[in-house]
Amino acid sequence: MAKGEPVQTVEILVPDPGPGEAVVTIQACGVCHTDLAYRDGGINDEFPFLLGHEAAGVVESIGEGVTNVAVGDFVVLNWRAVCGQCRACGRGEPQYCFDTFNASQKMTLADGTPLTPALGIGSFADRTLVHSGQCTKVDPEARPAAVGLLGCGVMAGLGAAINTGGVTRGQSVAVIGCGGVGAAAIAGAALAGASRIIAVDLEDRKLEWAKGLGATHTINSSEGDVVEAIRELTGGFGADVVIDAVGIPLTWKQAFYARDLAGTLVLVGVPHPDAKVPEIPLVDVFGHGGALKSSWYGDCLPSRDFPMLVDLYQQGRLDLDAFVSEEIGLDDVEGAFTKMHKGDVLRSVVIL
Ligand SMILES: NC(=O)c1ccc[n+]([C@@H]2O[C@H](COP(=O)([O-])OP(=O)(O)OC[C@H]3O[C@@H](n4cnc5c(N)ncnc54)[C@H](O)[C@@H]3O)[C@@H](O)[C@H]2O)c1
Ligand SMILES: [Zn+2]
Ligand SMILES: [Zn+2]
Repeated sequence: MAKGEPVQTVEILVPDPGPGEAVVTIQACGVCHTDLAYRDGGINDEFPFLLGHEAAGVVESIGEGVTNVAVGDFVVLNWRAVCGQCRACGRGEPQYCFDTFNASQKMTLADGTPLTPALGIGSFADRTLVHSGQCTKVDPEARPAAVGLLGCGVMAGLGAAINTGGVTRGQSVAVIGCGGVGAAAIAGAALAGASRIIAVDLEDRKLEWAKGLGATHTINSSEGDVVEAIRELTGGFGADVVIDAVGIPLTWKQAFYARDLAGTLVLVGVPHPDAKVPEIPLVDVFGHGGALKSSWYGDCLPSRDFPMLVDLYQQGRLDLDAFVSEEIGLDDVEGAFTKMHKGDVLRSVVIL
């Protein structure tokens, strides 16, 4: 695969796991925007890539010294295996780890060309090689297509509300952009007990899905002033927490002004490298108070959050099935990119 060209299915070689590594048989893997960004050269130029990173599967073999998982464990893969040594880990905040681990060996094409696995995972494959810390053991009874999504976008959204935004019972929350990530932020706000959850998107279809996940009110932002509409729905004040799940200057500015005094803005959408902070009078930053935060991977700690969220899913308290718009085969990834681009799906999930 070269920059911008359609993805291809080819044979790859997966080495036996070395020290600290594991080989995982993949059962399901979601198609995420980041895979498309890799294909288009938007992440880096280290082609060829092995795409796929929202996956669940079974540990097939482990290398020397691996103790956190065993052969046969059902695991969800993550792209932030914490190091335990860096400045963030040292001060007891491993969710911010500045030096996360990936496998040290390379998977290759049949001719020996090294592959760059997307987010250090590469799980559009029957089996993949990862660092053992990238494997989190969860309830083996859970549906792989649903819980694999916790590996990226759904965790980012849930965590943006629960971890970064610190949403609690009775709060008002607005989420701008209700794709897979924003819809998960809505589900997260509902899980945390927010009493007013406002979904904002340009597309009515997304707003309908958001209602199914717990949105109490919806705003189609193509129809008027978003900030005014959010204020109207919150007694004229603005929401306690506003989550920008788009990540463009326009939505960030809307989120900034749609907060109540001392409210929190959470940026979880990933901005384009050329985007700038919109011009805002500094006195407004002071006057509004509160917090302007960014959310990396929902500030999650996979070992803490994945098993807990899978348990809530199994108990029927978190509808991860709602994010699985369709199950597809490995050869359908290119078609899934088109559907994602047109907004037809929250997630297409490859079943292996
Ligand atoms: N922070 C993280 O760790 C993390 C992890 C995964 C994904 N992301 C990012 O989250 C963002 C959303 O991902 P996604 O998978 O939900 O994408 P998506 O394309 O499925 O969803 C984006 C949604 O925003 C809506 N939208 C676009 N412009 C809008 C506007 N001006 N006002 C209101 N709504 C608007 C679209 O209609 C769509 O529903 C992306 O930037 C993605 O890269 C971040
Ligand atoms: Zn660390
Ligand atoms: Zn992703």
